[in-house]
This record gives sequence, C-alpha cells and structure tokens, in this order.
Amino acid sequence: MPRVFNFSAGPAMMPEPVLLRAAAEIADFGGTGMSVMEMSHRSKEYVALFEGVETKFRTAMGVPGNYKVLFLQGGATLQFSAVPMNLLARTGKADYAVTGFFAQKAFKCARMYGNVRAAADTGDYTAIPGQEDLDLDPGASYFHFCHNNTVYGTRWPYLPETGGVPLACDMSSSILSEPIDVSKFGVIYAGAQKNMGPAGLTVVVVRDDLLEIPPLPGTPDLLTYKSQAENGSMINTPATYGVYLLGLVLDWLEEEGGVVAMEKHNREKASLIYDSVERSPVFACKVEPRSRSMMNVVFSSGSDETDARFLKEAAARGMVTLKAHRATGGIRASMYNAMPLEGAERLAGLIDVFK
Ligand SMILES: Cc1ncc(COP(=O)(O)O)c(C=O)c1O
Repeated sequence: MPRVFNFSAGPAMMPEPVLLRAAAEIADFGGTGMSVMEMSHRSKEYVALFEGVETKFRTAMGVPGNYKVLFLQGGATLQFSAVPMNLLARTGKADYAVTGFFAQKAFKCARMYGNVRAAADTGDYTAIPGQEDLDLDPGASYFHFCHNNTVYGTRWPYLPETGGVPLACDMSSSILSEPIDVSKFGVIYAGAQKNMGPAGLTVVVVRDDLLEIPPLPGTPDLLTYKSQAENGSMINTPATYGVYLLGLVLDWLEEEGGVVAMEKHNREKASLIYDSVERSPVFACKVEPRSRSMMNVVFSSGSDETDARFLKEAAARGMVTLKAHRATGGIRASMYNAMPLEGAERLAGLIDVFK
C-alpha cells in the first residue's frame, strides 16, 4: 500500500525520512545492540540522546537561556491542570481567552483551582478576538490562550499584549510550524502528536522566574514544573522513545530550513486550500480571513450528504482522515509540517473539480 496523504488532526503524519530512519535504527541504535525503547533512561547513551534532543529543540524554537524545557507525559490535557497548579498562587486569579474546543476545556479545568475568568469568549469560534476585545485583569497570575484552535481552524494573528501578565499558551497544534518569540511567553506547552512526533510526549517551556511561585497545595511532584526542572524531566521514566523520535523530527526540520522555511511551506499549503474553497461554488469556510489557521483548514458544503461524497472521492484519491470534528461538522484538512505540498495540491485539485 503506498503511503496516503493523511490529513489527521493528530496523531498526524510524520515526515517519511523520520519513519525510515527510525525503522533502520529500531533494533540497534548507534551500535549499542539495542533499541532506544529497550534502553534504561538512566544509561549514559540515553541521557546523552535526551540532552541532545533538548539542545536541538532549543535551537529550533529559539528558546532563551532563562527558560526550562521539560519533556513530560499526560498530553496537553494534563497541562490544563498543571498550568493553574503551578502559576495560580501568584495572585489567585487568572484570565482565559475562550476561543474554541480545547481553549474552553482548559478554561473549565482551571476554574476548579481558583478565581478564573473568561477574558474573551468568541461564541461561535469563527474569529479570534482583537486586542481591544480582551477584557484583561492586570492582577491576573497569567493569561491563557490557545495559539491555534485545532477544531475550529483559527489561529491568533498576533500575540496578546497583557502589560506584564505572563502569557500561558497551548501551542499543541502550531508549535514549530512558524517562528515564535518565546521571550514573550511565561509558559508554552504542546502535545507532540501533531508537529513533533508520536503521542505520549508533552513539551513544556517555562520561564525560570515562574518556577519560584509555590504550587497549589496537593500538586503532585510529577506536575510541579520546578521539581521536573530540577530532575531533568526524569523524576520517573520519561517517554523515552517519543523523545528519540522528536530528535529525528528536529533533525529533519533543520535539514528543511527550520521554522522559517516551515512557515512559508505551511502558508503555501493552507493558501492553496483556502483559495480553492473561495473559488468553489460548493464549499465555504466560515472562519474570518484574518483568523484562519495555517494548520487546520475547516470547510463545508453545508450538506452532510455532499460532504460525505467529497470524503469518499478524496479517499479514492489517497487522501484520508478529512472528516471534521463533530463540533463543527464538514471537512477539516490538517496540514502540519510533515504534510507535503503535493498533498495540498491534490486536495485543492479535488475541491476545484468537485461538483
Ligand atoms: C490545541 C489542542 N490542545 C489540547 C489538545 C489535547 O491534547 P492531548 O490529547 O495531548 O491531551 C489538543 C488535541 O488535539 C489540541 O489540538
């Protein structure tokens, strides 16, 4: 079976050279006579690999020296708790921008821990609020937002200005897809399974001064950023194979030209699809143009039957997992870094001829 263009929102396509290299190394990593997944996480070889991946990640994302990079587990969803548990004690209050499915989940979760407010709620989630629409509390411990809303296909076209309140950001579906000024953030977190590797690994980038905030009472050690930082993300066994694969993805990313090249590549792919949808007499995209995601393009004909016929025709042409999330219905083309340009071209071609 030839490889398909898999438009899954996550777990998502991996770069093919990464899969082939992992396959070649699966039983014998670097002449050790064992697979990475068989190695003790305390072994000299594995610790060297782990530290090397952190260095590559720092380089790829441009992480400043006053930030820690943590390789954790539990997905982005566990960070919905970890963020308030680690940061809320500063003032006991936090602001959340409720702009989509996961942003709302993060908000609802944080409300269990303290005085948490919606600083913006865009209702139908087809647009990102403007800076002037944010109702910001200068006394908030942090301002949380989801940089790219995977389900609704929106992306923040700017970084919110909060006047010193740290930004806490869910970057699960856009991390490493474009250059980001990390120094503007307090905490960034992301599940790996879209742009970084397989599910099971969660990356957290946190500014050093925030580690001095006392965690809320009862916060487990595994969820305490400071404990994880002090133990090199190895309080317990980390997602060893996932970190190795992240390393391979970062090697690939560097060869491809890094995040600057990725942004160009991702913009090009997304534009192909948005332009075809705009031209199409059948389909429409509800997201206002300035808020459109480069990663997840959501569109629909307005008829379940027509959308289903499109999905069938796409599958027959080697394009799969295009069914949108149940919250929106319709079609969603998720095109992370690893989606080749040909995937977007083929999909745009089908939209153009679909009647
Ligand atoms: C933006 C965003 N946040 C959070 C999540 C949840 O991630 P996880 O399944 O890793 O907990 C997802 C998953 O799709 C996502 O897209």
